[in-house]
Amino acid sequence: MLNNEVIVVAIDGPSASGKSTVAHLVADRLGFNYVDSGSFYRGITWKALREGLDTADQEQVIALINRMDMQCICRERVVTFTIDGEEPGDQIRSQPVQEHVSDIAAVSEVRTFLVGMLRDTARFGHLAMEGRDIGTVVFPDSMYKYYLDADPEERARRRFNELTAESGYEDVNAVLDSLTRRDRKDTTRKAAPLQIALGAEVIDSTSMTAEDVAEHIIARLKSAGLPA
Ligand code: DC
Repeated sequence: MLNNEVIVVAIDGPSASGKSTVAHLVADRLGFNYVDSGSFYRGITWKALREGLDTADQEQVIALINRMDMQCICRERVVTFTIDGEEPGDQIRSQPVQEHVSDIAAVSEVRTFLVGMLRDTARFGHLAMEGRDIGTVVFPDSMYKYYLDADPEERARRRFNELTAESGYEDVNAVLDSLTRRDRKDTTRKAAPLQIALGAEVIDSTSMTAEDVAEHIIARLKSAGLPA
């Protein structure tokens, strides 16, 4: 429990480790709001690409976050956002966004901006939030931290099965390459690299379904006294 009594279940881990499905299941089961923090990084990437910016040019990216208007909304217990009044929807899952989001996530001004915005989502009520730095940076005081992992090949298989034909990826090996590149950038970047938070329970989901993992987390939360 945080000072202001809002409960945050923090779920971190690498790409396609099952965080989204698990955090969604946990949020539904507890009646908490679900926040996919990666979607916020993807949203800024979508906006930058739409404006024809070079995402590797940090000055351009910083100028963008200073001029755009990003607002959080909470609808049916899912927290999402608008940028300059628009909701990007599925466009944040496109291959161009996928390939450029690590550039955006490596800019420390972007991280400071989004950490503030993500913390502010606590005004909507209790949260199950997933990402890379939720337990380490966004809500380090949360008592309920989980780090999901799975073998890279299994993660690539899961991600490939979720993709549509329009995604642009030819086969599972192309997805594995992209995931491996992104993992490397996410774990080695200077600003808030992906790390296991102090006090987080590590769950290897390679041979578990998302439902198994969610059940495990809910059982833990119950034994910690949460009304799950
Ligand atoms: O979870 P995802 O694949 O949608 O995340 C997209 C990118 O955003 C990924 O490269 C890592 C980054 N990210 C981050 O740096 N911090 C977060 N809290 C969430 C995502």
